[in-house]
Amino acid sequence: MLYESLAGPLLFRLDAETAHEEVSGLMALLAVVPGGAALLSALTGRGASGLERTVFGLRFPNPLGLAAGFDKDGRLVSVLPALGFGFLEIGSVTLEPQPGNPRPRLVRVPDARALINRMGFNGDGARAVARRLAAAPRPAVPLGINLGLNKGVSAEDAPAAYARTFRILAEHGDYFVVNVSSPNTPGLRALQAAKDLAAVLETVQEANPARKPVLVKLAPDLADEDFASAVATAERLAQGLVVSNTTLSRDGVPEALRGEPGGLSGAPLRGRATELVRRARALTRLPIVGVGGIESAGDARERLDAGADLVQLYTGLVYGGPRAPKRILRGLEASA
Ligand SMILES: Cc1cc2nc3c(=O)[nH]c(=O)nc-3n(C[C@H](O)[C@H](O)[C@H](O)COP(=O)(O)O)c2cc1C
Repeated sequence: MLYESLAGPLLFRLDAETAHEEVSGLMALLAVVPGGAALLSALTGRGASGLERTVFGLRFPNPLGLAAGFDKDGRLVSVLPALGFGFLEIGSVTLEPQPGNPRPRLVRVPDARALINRMGFNGDGARAVARRLAAAPRPAVPLGINLGLNKGVSAEDAPAAYARTFRILAEHGDYFVVNVSSPNTPGLRALQAAKDLAAVLETVQEANPARKPVLVKLAPDLADEDFASAVATAERLAQGLVVSNTTLSRDGVPEALRGEPGGLSGAPLRGRATELVRRARALTRLPIVGVGGIESAGDARERLDAGADLVQLYTGLVYGGPRAPKRILRGLEASA
């Protein structure tokens, strides 16, 4: 209520990234104030029970997680579970710190309940994130760390860069995601090609004696045969899939905003992302994290029915507000 009538409209008057920074700043404050997380939990209402599951050897209190990109540098891991999330995925984290693309780089598409982002992996880099995670209490839910690649790293150097990033962060995460699907780093998505993907995954797994689950995040814009061969490579060398990242398609976007460069997320991605989960499920028994356009319990249920073991959202939080995750979970509880 408060979000729809007051906080949401106020935030929507700000530039989209500024609004994100305000919200993150407030949450960072709640993370350090005694009782802050409990207050946030109380303000966002009742969660749900009976939704526990075990996926890639980890115990999840419920199947709804926060997607990568919201908390790129792992500043909010102690407070985000208060919104009801059953797991968090921070990142993408790159080996070295980098500023990302010039602002503005996050654009709202309100008529479509969507966002276009061209952030370009802005972040503090792996060492700073590892230090921050080491200093914070371990979150109450499984923590995923999504690994990105610094701008300008060649395909040849990519496997070693991912593996070094992984090694620095390995002890701080419960699962890891190799992100080869952001549209905002030139050349990155080419790493989804079977040979390149295999080289990245082999090198990361060599740095993974503890056998932490390593997932591969795929783009929704792959041709069918490329998607199938990426899934086959993941089946051989990884423990799961995240389907999917943002799209370069502009279907469902009003004419005036179609020219904004970047990846599109939110409602227009929903159908495609669901179709890809269904397709991936027909190809493999690997665990699948379904993401893209989820904003209601019905959306989450549909994604799970399509074959996802877990689901995530990001854009649905921007449009639905801080009570959205628990609303979705209560809906799932009712339909379980
Ligand atoms: C502003 C923004 C930043 C994002 N940054 C990342 C990122 O760093 N790494 C990544 O794997 N995905 C990133 N994503 C993609 C999301 O994790 C997710 O795959 C996508 O937005 C689709 O889900 P949604 O429709 O629920 O937002 C980002 C999305 C947004 C909107």
